[in-house]
Amino acid sequence: MDFFDYKDGVLHAEDVSLARIADEVGTPFYAYSAATLTRHFQVFDAAFSKWPHLVCYAMKANSNQAVLKLLTDLGAGLDIVSGGELARAKALEVPGGRIVFSGVGKTDEEMRAALDHGIRCFNVESVPELHRLSEVAQEMGKTAPVSIRVNPDVDAGTHEKINTGRKADKFGISYARARQVYAEAAALPGIAVRGVDMHIGSQITTLAPFEAAFGRMAALVEDLRKAGIAIRHVDLGGGLGVPYHGDNDIPPPPEEYAAMVERVLGSLDVEYVIEPGRLIAGNAGVLVGRVIYVKREEGHTFIITDLGMNDLIRPTLYEAFHHIRPVKEPAPDAPLAQADVVGPVCETGDYMARARMLPPLARGDLVAVMTAGAYGAVQSGTYNTRPLVPEVLVRGGDFAVVRPRLDAEQIVALDKLAPWQVRNP
Ligand code: LLP
Repeated sequence: MDFFDYKDGVLHAEDVSLARIADEVGTPFYAYSAATLTRHFQVFDAAFSKWPHLVCYAMKANSNQAVLKLLTDLGAGLDIVSGGELARAKALEVPGGRIVFSGVGKTDEEMRAALDHGIRCFNVESVPELHRLSEVAQEMGKTAPVSIRVNPDVDAGTHEKINTGRKADKFGISYARARQVYAEAAALPGIAVRGVDMHIGSQITTLAPFEAAFGRMAALVEDLRKAGIAIRHVDLGGGLGVPYHGDNDIPPPPEEYAAMVERVLGSLDVEYVIEPGRLIAGNAGVLVGRVIYVKREEGHTFIITDLGMNDLIRPTLYEAFHHIRPVKEPAPDAPLAQADVVGPVCETGDYMARARMLPPLARGDLVAVMTAGAYGAVQSGTYNTRPLVPEVLVRGGDFAVVRPRLDAEQIVALDKLAPWQVRNP
C-alpha cells in the first residue's frame, strides 16, 4: 500500500501534486511519502509485537537523514554496513544499543568507531574479521558483542546479483563450519557471543527459502546451547520483497512471515532482530522526470527523458521492472503503444523501461518511475557530470527538499588541478 494516487487528474504524493514539486524543484527528483514509510514500518513492527524483537531498518536502502529520522522516531533500530552509515546514525544521535553492523569488509577504523559508540552487535562474516575484532576491542579495553553471519547455503531464487546465501557467495561463514567457529569465538578475549545472524538475499517474494534457512538456524542454536554457548538473539536478515510489477511478485504479508518465523524459531525463546530495507522504503518513493523528446525510428519509439541510469541504476543493473506513470492522468480510453523510456546518458544500458506499453507522451510531460524509494537515490551518482538528483519528503500537504540538487558547478569544484598544472599559483 502506498500514498501515490491521481487527484484531479494529476499524480500526487499524499496531498502534494508531483507537478507542483517539479515546478519548484525542477526535474529529476525523488519524492518520498512519510505516510507510506510510517505505515510500512508500523505494519512490519506490529507483526512481531507478540515477541521480543528489534526491527533494524537496513539504511543501505535509503539513508537520507530525513528518512532515518522519521523511522528512528517511530522506534526503528538501524542496520549499518559502513563507517559512513554509522556517521549518519550518530548525526541523528541514534543510541548504539539500537544499531547492528553487517558487512564483509569492516576496517579497524570502522570497528573502533562502532565500539566507541557501543553498538548492539557486530555481524561477523569471516574468521580473520573475528580475530581482528577481538584484537581491536582488547586494545580499547572493550569486549565486542558478536553474532556470526552463517551462510545457510540456501538459494533465495532472486536476481543473481542480490542472492547472498549460497555457498559460493562471499557472505558469512559456511554452515558446516559454524559450530567450530562459534567455539573459537567464545574463547577469544575481546569477543562476547550474543546471537546468530543470516541473510539470504533481497527481493524475495516467497516464504520457502526463508523457512529453509531459519530451520537450519534453529538447529544451529540448539547445538550451540548444548555446547554451552549462550545465544540471546537470532538476526533474520532483511529480504522480504515488494511488488514492483504487482502480478507475479507479490510478497506474503508481514503477519504471515512473522507467523512462520515463530513456527520455526519460537521454541528457542530468543529475541528476533530483523533488518528490512526494501519493504519499508521501496513503495514509499518515486522518481519524477520530464520528457525531452519523443523519437520515432524504423518502428521504434524512444521516450527520451531527463532520467538517467545515474539517477536510478536498478533497471539496467538488475533488469529491474518499475512501473512508469504519466504525472498527468491519461484518459481511460487512451491508446497504448510500445516504447522504450530512455535517458540522456551515452550508453545503450541507459533506460528506465524497455518495450513498455504506454499511453501517449509528448515533450514536456512529466513521468513518475514507481517503487523507487529503496536502492534508488542511494545508488545515484554524477556520471556524465549530471547533477546529483535531489530528494524531497512529503508529509500530508507539505513537502521539503531533504537533499538539494548538487549542480554541475559544485561537482566541477570538487576536482582540483595538480600543483604543477596551475599556471599562476
Ligand atoms: N541485511 C543485510 C545484511 C543485507 O545485505 C541487506 C541487503 C539487507 C539487510 C536489506 O535487505 P532488503 O530488506 O532491502 O531486501 N541494490 C539492490 C539490493 C541490494 C541488497 C543488499 N543487501 C537492489 O537495488 O535491488
